Amino acid sequence: MTATVVSATADAIDRAAGLLARGALVAFPTETVYGLGADAANPEAVRAIFTAKGRPSDHPLIVHLPDASHLDAWARDVPAGARALARAFWPGPLTLILPRTPLAGDTVTGGQDTVGLRVPAHPVARALLAAFAARGGHGVAAPSANRYGHVSPTTAAHVADDLGAQVAMILDGGPCAVGIESTIVAFDGEAPLLVRPGGVGADAIARVLGLAPAAATAGAPRASGTHASHYAPRTAAFLVDARSLPAELVRLAERDEAVAVLARSLTRPPEFEGRWIAAPGDVDGYARDLYANLRALDAAGADAILIEAPPLDAAWLAVRDRLARATHRD
Ligand code: TXA
Ligand code: MG
Repeated sequence: MTATVVSATADAIDRAAGLLARGALVAFPTETVYGLGADAANPEAVRAIFTAKGRPSDHPLIVHLPDASHLDAWARDVPAGARALARAFWPGPLTLILPRTPLAGDTVTGGQDTVGLRVPAHPVARALLAAFAARGGHGVAAPSANRYGHVSPTTAAHVADDLGAQVAMILDGGPCAVGIESTIVAFDGEAPLLVRPGGVGADAIARVLGLAPAAATAGAPRASGTHASHYAPRTAAFLVDARSLPAELVRLAERDEAVAVLARSLTRPPEFEGRWIAAPGDVDGYARDLYANLRALDAAGADAILIEAPPLDAAWLAVRDRLARATHRD
């Protein structure tokens, strides 16, 4: 880990905008997770993102905009529903997939006819995007600033661990408040599709649209975060019902397996010797801490991570989605 983690002062943000304008990579905080940014209109700079992450080049990136007035530079034939969502949730953790204009080139869109757009709410992200626009920039392409397939970063230190050697600057804006990625909504004509559950609840989206978006299926646009195995710690991780977890711990202890646990409602059994993290019981707190908790448990060097399965109600949809991917095995 070599890169320059820099506190996100006004001066640092201005230098970061200058680096972006020169085609360099800058990691920056958003309210969801940290992003690995490059000038979205510069194919050379965007290619560097794929190289740094080890991400396949046909996986499209999200273009981050300073405000919704930039929407029509990147997207055409914008459905009324998409505009309503932008009005309701931007700035915020919502990404819209829309038909692209020529400004959205093949590198940033992975060659698709659509482009992903988002206006983040984090003050550092907003200041960076505004400073970049003031230099004539059009938007900042940014995937989560982690190595491909790994757990997303929610602190500057997480970025430095994964990509420290590959970025010109890491802007430190503290831990991310939402903690899981944006909700992605695509439009098939006028019909909304939920591509990825995330920071904005599906129920809140349904209220604005007047209908619930359909869940995107396999034939839908490519989205790397929607691959079955993603957001994954290196240690094998398993979802276990609260009721079965104590017995499972006993069984693994008898086999001398080192175990790390992400609990929610359960308390640590006195005889348990491994790393135990008690996650917040509320969904917002749980999501905020999730990736930092997975990274901490991964670092415990255990043979397995056991994760207490979260509740089944709709509010936990995005968290359950991430946990299903973190624990997926082929
Ligand atoms: O919260 C977030 O969305 C964070 C922060 C940094 O903004 N970004 C993020 O980016 O999660 P990434 O690349 O890790 O995930 C973005 C997802 C990917 O699964 C990508 O394939 C999908 O959005 N995506 C982007 N453009 C798309 C398009 N045109 N069609 C379908 N999926 C698209
Ligand atoms: Mg990602």
